[in-house]
Amino acid sequence: MDESKTPDSSSLPRPSKPTITKQKSSWPFAFFVTVLVPVLAAILLYQLDSFDPAPLPLHELTRHVITVPTQNDHMLRVSEFVGVGNLRGPEDVAYDAKSGVIYTGCADGWISRVTVNDSAADSVVEKWVNTGGRPLGIAFGHNNELIVADPEKGLLNVTADGVVELLTDEADGQKFKTTDAVDVAHNGIIYFTDASYKYSLSKFIWDFLEGKPHGRLLSYDPATRTTKVLVRDLYFANGVVITPDQNYVIFCETPMRRCRKYHIQGKEKGRVEKFIDYLPGMPDNIRYDGDGLYWIGLPTARTLQWDIAFRYPFIRKILLIMEKYIGRPPMEKNGGVVAIDLAGNPIAHYYDPGLALVTSGMKIGNHLYIGSIIHPYFLRLNLKQYPAQAAT
Ligand SMILES: *[C@@H]1O[C@H](CO)[C@@H](O)[C@H](O)[C@H]1NC(C)=O
Ligand SMILES: *[C@@H]1O[C@H](CO)[C@@H](O)[C@H](O)[C@H]1NC(C)=O
Repeated sequence: MDESKTPDSSSLPRPSKPTITKQKSSWPFAFFVTVLVPVLAAILLYQLDSFDPAPLPLHELTRHVITVPTQNDHMLRVSEFVGVGNLRGPEDVAYDAKSGVIYTGCADGWISRVTVNDSAADSVVEKWVNTGGRPLGIAFGHNNELIVADPEKGLLNVTADGVVELLTDEADGQKFKTTDAVDVAHNGIIYFTDASYKYSLSKFIWDFLEGKPHGRLLSYDPATRTTKVLVRDLYFANGVVITPDQNYVIFCETPMRRCRKYHIQGKEKGRVEKFIDYLPGMPDNIRYDGDGLYWIGLPTARTLQWDIAFRYPFIRKILLIMEKYIGRPPMEKNGGVVAIDLAGNPIAHYYDPGLALVTSGMKIGNHLYIGSIIHPYFLRLNLKQYPAQAAT
């Protein structure tokens, strides 16, 4: 939809003009009310607000963006909608190939099962278990259970019978505030992130605006029931995936537009190194398709608005005050999904100017399924019919 289109003005009745000239004598009062008062109020709010944003490590956060060799830059036009109205913000995708069912967590607390059908309209959504929170990341355990990252509850075990059990909700004496993403290794160890120990999910934007690293990468060992902090001081620690060789866990830091890898085996165990920097957008979930590619959901592309905000803490403080009292201007666009190969090379980028707050992508058969924290459906794109193509 193009909202800039307005009806032909010549067909509208012309407004009468004289009102302004009549009030000329009282202009200082009008100026006082309409300009001076709001400006003074804004300055006062800024001075009184204790919110204290920090400078970000700008040398790591340059405006540089990697070149992705193939793109589909208008994927919304050719996407189908799955589960319209029956899914509220399906954030992550866990696919069980045996049953052909996708599990996803929604904003109303439901973990839903979506039975995939060749025809998008015939896909069936079943509300399965309600966590009483807001399930985000979802992965399969080894005993037919689902392991769920729920920002309101912590790390959960949802058994095959639908019983919800808390596994852990704190580490090193610090409670999780936004348990976000999860994956399970072959040896049963669960790797997950707490995006922020300071802000809850409803205030995640405050975390971005404050610009301090409140995120942690953690592990939970079901055999010993112990929770360990693997990496601390992360900027909004988000998506987590274990590499197919089981040597690393890859984790994404949303505002930094990067994903790094943490060695979980061998001599270098505990070391963190680069996986991919300068993504074309801010990464959310990362999932492996079993076929050589990771798929990363990008809630937004790199935008000028966020570039400026990240550069200047005082702008972030102004944005926070707006967020608190009147709402923040839109700063996200060109959301989508980027595919990265096992070596960390970008392969394909699917996005659309009209898409924002995409959180996950997963290739299932010929289709890319796309989750989001706000939309009431999965988007589905036929990758055979509408592949990403090299720019000509
Ligand atoms: C899709 O749904 C239709 C109608 O409900 C059904 O007949 C068909 O078998 C389903 N196809 C798949 C692949 O599940
Ligand atoms: C989840 O609960 C089920 C049923 O009690 C159990 O078999 C399974 O081991 C549990 N998973 C974890 C990771 O604790």
